[in-house]
Amino acid sequence: MGYDLNLDGKTAIVTGGSGGLGRIVTRALAQAGASVVVASRQLSASEAVVREMVDYEVFACPLDVTDRSSIEAMANRVLDRYGHIDVLINNAGISPFAASMANTRADGMKKLFEVNVVGALECAQVCAPAMISIGAGSIINMASSAAAVGIEGLGAYAVSKAALIKLTEQLAGEWGPKGIRVNAIAPGFMGVGVANFVQGNTDFMAPVLERTPLGRVGNPHEIAGAVVFLASDGASYVTGQTLYIDGGVSRW
Ligand SMILES: NC(=O)c1ccc[n+]([C@@H]2O[C@H](COP(=O)([O-])OP(=O)(O)OC[C@H]3O[C@@H](n4cnc5c(N)ncnc54)[C@H](OP(=O)(O)O)[C@@H]3O)[C@@H](O)[C@H]2O)c1
Repeated sequence: MGYDLNLDGKTAIVTGGSGGLGRIVTRALAQAGASVVVASRQLSASEAVVREMVDYEVFACPLDVTDRSSIEAMANRVLDRYGHIDVLINNAGISPFAASMANTRADGMKKLFEVNVVGALECAQVCAPAMISIGAGSIINMASSAAAVGIEGLGAYAVSKAALIKLTEQLAGEWGPKGIRVNAIAPGFMGVGVANFVQGNTDFMAPVLERTPLGRVGNPHEIAGAVVFLASDGASYVTGQTLYIDGGVSRW
């Protein structure tokens, strides 16, 4: 028996597929053979991704992960178009402020949970029946190494990502018997999107890089292989795991 990283014939949804990491994830899945649905609030941004990837089957669909009816409408459109949902990447996420925990307001914390945790849960809940109907599926939650590394100012975000990791483990336990694998990827600072601010911010990054075994910020492309692996049958016995792609900082 060999292993299979091919996604030919599979349909993958990438929430937040128009963002910094989402574009990389979308391209990687499409190159591996999947039909990929890019889903976020601003349809024009998702359509721009479709135009960047004309050689692949990429489809833009509006989605607000904080609105259950929007998630259901997105899933129905995907099922109408492709007939099945095989892979869900819960990548939509926000990191809208920096504050100590003492200064973090309840409404800020709720907003983070609404998108980063409840949004991921509801997307999973809505897509799971289609996966269960075919007895197979892979859900990948985009967490963060912030869940495991203390970083001043990012506490509320870190708490939301730690919750997402626990959600990953819980769903893996509940849905494994139905054929759905649920894993998480936890990137470190990849220099784009929510981590765009690290570009040129040497004062902030110096202590982080000092304790990072590989000694540098990540390149966003360095998450692509892990996404394809976890989405594919190559990871058929892998569930409930979190793969840290962070230069080793969370394990040192
Ligand atoms: N970049 C990094 O270094 C890094 C490191 C660790 C973890 N992460 C995680 O990786 C994921 C992607 O991050 P990124 O850096 O690529 O961020 P980004 O560039 O800001 O992209 C975020 C994406 O999420 C979408 N989004 C936000 N709120 C949404 C909502 N309510 N419903 C649907 N879509 C929504 C955005 O599109 P719209 O605004 O159009 O909705 C956008 O496509 C996040 O979960 C983030 O926490 C990133």
